[in-house]
Amino acid sequence: MGIKEAESRIKALKEELEKHNYRYYVLNDPVISDYEYDLMMLELAGLEKAWPALATEDSPAAKVGSDLQPPTRREFRQYPHRYPMLSLGNTYDTGELYAFDERIRKFSGSGCDYNCELKFDGTAVCLSYSRGRLVRALTRGDGHVGDDVTENVLTIGTVPETIGDTSFDFEIRGEIYMPFKDFERLNTERAEGGDPPFANPRNAAAGSLKTLDPKEVRRRGLQCVLYHIVGEDLPFERHTDAISWAAGQGFPVSGYSRLCHGIEMVLQYIGEWDSGRKSLPFATDGIVVKVNDLQLQKELGYTAKFPRWATAYKFKPEEALTKLLSIDYQTGRTGVVTPVANLEPVSLSGTVVKRATLHNADQMEALDIRIGDSVYVEKGGEIIPKITRVELSRRPAGAPVPVFPAACPVCGTPLLKDESQARHYCPNRDCPAVVKGGFLHFISRKAMNINAGDATIDQLYDKGLIRRLPDLYKLTVSDMTGLEGWKERSASKFIDSIAESKERPYHAVLYALGIRHIGETTAKTVASRFPSVYMLASASREELMEVEEIGDVVADSIRGYFSDPRNMETVDGLVRAGLNFEDKSGNAGRLSDRLAGKTVVVSGSFSVPRDRIKSLVEAHGGKNTASVSGSTSYLLAGEKPGPEKLKKAEKLSVPVISEDEFYKLIEE
Ligand code: IVH
Repeated sequence: MGIKEAESRIKALKEELEKHNYRYYVLNDPVISDYEYDLMMLELAGLEKAWPALATEDSPAAKVGSDLQPPTRREFRQYPHRYPMLSLGNTYDTGELYAFDERIRKFSGSGCDYNCELKFDGTAVCLSYSRGRLVRALTRGDGHVGDDVTENVLTIGTVPETIGDTSFDFEIRGEIYMPFKDFERLNTERAEGGDPPFANPRNAAAGSLKTLDPKEVRRRGLQCVLYHIVGEDLPFERHTDAISWAAGQGFPVSGYSRLCHGIEMVLQYIGEWDSGRKSLPFATDGIVVKVNDLQLQKELGYTAKFPRWATAYKFKPEEALTKLLSIDYQTGRTGVVTPVANLEPVSLSGTVVKRATLHNADQMEALDIRIGDSVYVEKGGEIIPKITRVELSRRPAGAPVPVFPAACPVCGTPLLKDESQARHYCPNRDCPAVVKGGFLHFISRKAMNINAGDATIDQLYDKGLIRRLPDLYKLTVSDMTGLEGWKERSASKFIDSIAESKERPYHAVLYALGIRHIGETTAKTVASRFPSVYMLASASREELMEVEEIGDVVADSIRGYFSDPRNMETVDGLVRAGLNFEDKSGNAGRLSDRLAGKTVVVSGSFSVPRDRIKSLVEAHGGKNTASVSGSTSYLLAGEKPGPEKLKKAEKLSVPVISEDEFYKLIEE
């Protein structure tokens, strides 16, 4: 390769890598696998080494990828890191671990101990403690400046806000990650609420940490593990001493680390986790090997991007090569059009993969995919199959470039693009795909639990028997027997099943409406706080957000739904059909009448979630209201109650009671 060629390849790689850095660290929506990315980075670093004149300081090979939001979208305060937050050198090749060990032994003149740790696949954070108190939690950012995510980090129960006063200040660094079970729950909820799923637990963790609503963050089940302490004059000789000390102070640390005497033991550890990691409840993408002696760490020092005293061995993802046969474009119930690849069936980590999501038009473009291409499929976070790259050497001549449709494949309405989410959607609310999707959601098991499937909904829709949800309740046995394949018996069974759905509880009905972001769990919370649909429909944004688990996104979605006259018509129609739009369990769950006729304002934080207190008020016959007035019976004040509320209570001589006094009141 000549210098000209090297120059243009370096330029191309830099551009590609910058683009992928942005997708990975900022959007949390990468379009290529880590492995692919690492290979590109390796190629760039190799070229810059071979042609030092072409190496620049701002090259992606010389700096860490930045998770900072672009200046136009800055939602977090940013603070500088006291010590830069670097990345780790990595390899997929055990041979390079021998070379790593060799360099260190040469440098130190003797063998050394390594601490081997799991490489948690999440997003890095740095917690600064001063005089035993957490002062700030920052993301890695660009390594020099990070986003302040303190409030969100504090929603993770295991991160201590204070520890015993220490004689030294320090920073403790680690990873925020999302266990598989929370990741799956989150994605199910997102699918139910019509939101795009996260591709893997890492993206879900990083995206959640940068969510603007701490209530939402708390719900997501993030976890934290800490693995590195930095500061001036720390009283530790070994890395393992520092970690044991941290554990003693109550910090969450990994229980999977092992101190290894020499490189052979390191390889043993790697061998064990290569398969062992598959049964862990969270994602790991490799093993981190760290020199244990802190003095030696200091002497080895850092390059601009990595410590010289640590490295990561990464596990190769399981992937398979297959052929892209065609692409379907599917309009979902929210109108979003998703490209889905049809593949030649191929087996991958024990299952046969036939279809894979292509997410959106941007992803198709980034992959530069053609029909007939040989493509690599991988399980994102080892769960959802996705296409990670194209094997260009196998591209058939004249392979056609797929064209994302400009119009809805179902109703022909021109698609609109939601720039923030890079998704195309059909804006037609009467689009058969949207309407049928709405019915399918409505009848689903956790919603109205009506015994039918796609085919029935198709038939009813095609015959013009159903357009809006209440139409279902007007169907008769003779309507059904008029359809192909329906006999008296099956028809009356279906009609019975519709009639039985009127017994479904209020929260299931709320969920069935298909309001965006209202999954099954949120529907329950909403139902318990707003015991009738008309109360919910008239609740203000502020009243909605008073509920512990409702943030601005959910509140806006609820407001948006009920302020649309068409939706109110649907609700009215369903009310007339006799569906449960009120919480009838109120009296069943009644514990006593001690607060009957009393109106309570609950403010501040308590030893249990505020919502629990509010449901206790209701369970004992009381009523919750949002603001203090002349008719308020008690202001129940926890820690840091609203100062305005306190003032008003004093002015109106409303009794102010504590959490303990409240318990006495209801237990008497
Ligand atoms: S030590 C100076 N230990 O991997 C570097 N990092 O790809 C200190 N990571 O930025 C990092 N598990 O976010 C370390 N046990 C572990 C880790 C770990 C995951 C992450 C970390 C780092 C990235 C590098």
